[in-house]
Amino acid sequence: MANRVAPALSFLCLHLLLPIPGVLSATFTFSNNCKHTVWPGLLSSAGSSPLSTTGFSLESGEDRSVSAPTGWSGRFWGRTHCSTDSATGKFTCGTADCGSGTVECSGSGAAPPATLAEFTLDGSGGLDFYDVSLVDGYNLPMLVVPQGAPTGAGGNCTTTGCLVDLNGVCPSELKVTAVGGEGVACRSACEAFGNAEYCCSGAYGNPNTCRPSTYSTFFKNACPRAYSYAYDDGTSTFTCAGSTSYHITFCPTTATSKSADGYPQAVSVPHAVQLGGGINSAMVYQGALVASNDKSLRSAPLMAATAVAAFWLALML
Ligand SMILES: *[C@@H]1O[C@H](CO)[C@@H](O)[C@H](O)[C@H]1NC(C)=O
Repeated sequence: MANRVAPALSFLCLHLLLPIPGVLSATFTFSNNCKHTVWPGLLSSAGSSPLSTTGFSLESGEDRSVSAPTGWSGRFWGRTHCSTDSATGKFTCGTADCGSGTVECSGSGAAPPATLAEFTLDGSGGLDFYDVSLVDGYNLPMLVVPQGAPTGAGGNCTTTGCLVDLNGVCPSELKVTAVGGEGVACRSACEAFGNAEYCCSGAYGNPNTCRPSTYSTFFKNACPRAYSYAYDDGTSTFTCAGSTSYHITFCPTTATSKSADGYPQAVSVPHAVQLGGGINSAMVYQGALVASNDKSLRSAPLMAATAVAAFWLALML
C-alpha cells in the first residue's frame, strides 16, 4: 500500500510547492514607501476573475503580495486621506476613492484623479503588457518593477512609473487641494475642462488628431515613461514574458532629510533605487532629487524641475 501512496503523495507535494502552470500567473507585491498610509484599490477588468482582495490598508513601510491567475487583466491605484465616518461607518478617501463605502472596492474603480498601474497578463504573443497611466490624473508617485522575467525572453521588460511628486507643482487649474490648501492630487486636462481635444474623443478620437497638449506635456516631462494622454502608447506600454512578477511601490523615492533651518530640501536620494531585474538588471535610476512629502514646501517648483532633469538624465544613462 505504501508503494501506491508514496507516488501520489509526491505528486501532491509537487503541486503544492510549484506554481501550477496555467493557474497562477503572477504575484503583485505592493510596498508603501510613503510616510503615510495608502489604501491600494484593485480592479479586475470585465471578464477577468476577481483577485483575493479588491482593497486594503497598507501602512507606511508595509508590503503585501496578491497573486493573479493566468490572463488576468486589471488595474491598481493608491487611495490617500482615507477615514471611516464614526457616525455612518462609511469608509471614504480624499483621493482615488472607489465609492464602495468600505476598504474593499468590490468591483468599483478609482474616482479620478488617480495614478493607475494597468496590467494585462499573458496577452498577445504570450507577453504581459503593463503601464503606469496619468490619463486619469495623478495622486501618488508609483513605480512598477518587473521581477524574475525569464532570461532572454524578449519584450521591453523594464521599470516604469512616475517617480516625481507632482501634487505641489501641479498647475493651479488642475490642482486638487485639501482643506488648508495642500495639493493632494492633479487632474488631467480632460477631467478639468472636458473638451474633446484633451479627452481624445469625437473628432479627436484617433492618434492622428489627438496630440499632446501643454497639460499632457507637463505630465510627460515629469514622468517620461507614464501615459500622459490616451494615445501615448509608444513610450508608455511595456512588455514582459509570462511568469514575471511585479513589485509596485507607492512613493518610491520619498526623501526624509530636512535642512538645518528646518525647511525640507531636495535631497539626493542616497538609496539609488535598483531597478530592472531580469533582462534589465543593470539599470539603475539615481532616485533623482525628490521633494519631501512635507506640507510646507517652499521651493517646490524648483525641486520638481531638478527632479525632472535628474530623471531624464537617469533615463539616458
Ligand atoms: C514595448 O514593446 C511594445 C510591444 O512591442 C511596444 O508596443 C511599445 O511601444 C514598447 N514600449 C517602449 C517604451 O518602447
